[in-house]
Amino acid sequence: MSLQKILKNQTISFYEYMENCLYHNEYGYYSTKNNVFNKDGDFYTASSISKAFAHCIYNFIYSLGLEDINILELGGGNGFLSQNILDKNKNLIKNYFLYEPNKAMRLLQQKTLKHYDVVFLDKLPVKDKKPIIVIANEVLDAMPVHLYLKKEHMYFEKMVCVGSENSFVLKNVDNIPSQAKDILDRYNNQDYVVSYNPNIVTFLKNLQSISSSVLLLFFDYGYKEYELFNDVRNGQSPRGFYKHLLVNNPLANMAKMDLTYNVNYSSLVKNAIDCGYEFEGYTLQSSFIMELLQDENYDTQEKNAIKQLCFDDSIFNAFKAICFSKNFKANVLGFKRDISHKM
Ligand SMILES: C[S@@+](CC[C@H](N)C(=O)[O-])C[C@H]1O[C@@H](n2cnc3c(N)ncnc32)[C@H](O)[C@@H]1O
Repeated sequence: MSLQKILKNQTISFYEYMENCLYHNEYGYYSTKNNVFNKDGDFYTASSISKAFAHCIYNFIYSLGLEDINILELGGGNGFLSQNILDKNKNLIKNYFLYEPNKAMRLLQQKTLKHYDVVFLDKLPVKDKKPIIVIANEVLDAMPVHLYLKKEHMYFEKMVCVGSENSFVLKNVDNIPSQAKDILDRYNNQDYVVSYNPNIVTFLKNLQSISSSVLLLFFDYGYKEYELFNDVRNGQSPRGFYKHLLVNNPLANMAKMDLTYNVNYSSLVKNAIDCGYEFEGYTLQSSFIMELLQDENYDTQEKNAIKQLCFDDSIFNAFKAICFSKNFKANVLGFKRDISHKM
């Protein structure tokens, strides 16, 4: 059954729309497109732009000085990040787990990593006593969200139904979650869209439960709340990426393009602290890379790729690195230029 047919008969939340468009087993974007992270695809991620990104993460891991290193990578994309981390030193890492909920993406990762000692998971591993480092690049912004906004002192959820022009239809709902109301209430303008991920707390708690000692290292585009909800940026409206072009209408190219939004890092920090994590640092991804980059004799092409990651005006300000820990005794590198003030 196609999404179009589902939508003909009912109005659905943007959460359901995004989940279907990206992850439906039969027609979802990640299930039907062969490899989205290359020239012929729709967008690049840091892992697909430069192997130096993986090398910096490796240097971060190495600097922790652990003996038995267990890594859990979430949403491994085309497998390049795991490949380039493991290429640095296969022996240092005891177990490299890759958790990928999407079957087609898991197959792609298994293809890339067929000669590597990677444990592929379709659900999270059971609790282990050994410390584990959890890495996720551009995973948070790929998790489905509800869209909320406030108009004339009333709270709305933006629902999706297919009209003749594939347009959003707003429907009033009685009880949007209090956390989303809190965000909407903090800002004067009534029309900012909040992209609300209802699974974030469960996601953070699940990661906490896999080991008695956990370190989370996430990379994603996003901003602090006050940077998102102002008249210049106008909130967190979702958007698409199609053939390397930004598409402002998230309902365009249904299930044929990536759907994404800016992560609200203030809210993420609050959620993580409420779950019992300690906050380790928040910085520009480019600052993380520059701090951990070592002399590797990169060729010109690779140097240009690093330049693009760190100094390209259109991306360098948007991408951030953030780190949380739970019972993890180590000094983390990469956050010398911490920008977490006024979080
Ligand atoms: C934008 S891609 C990022 C790919 C990759 N990390 C990279 O650096 O190229 C998002 C990935 O996150 C995965 N994903 C979505 N929700 C997830 C979740 N809850 N846990 C783990 N992975 C998830 C998707 O299937 C997809 O592989």
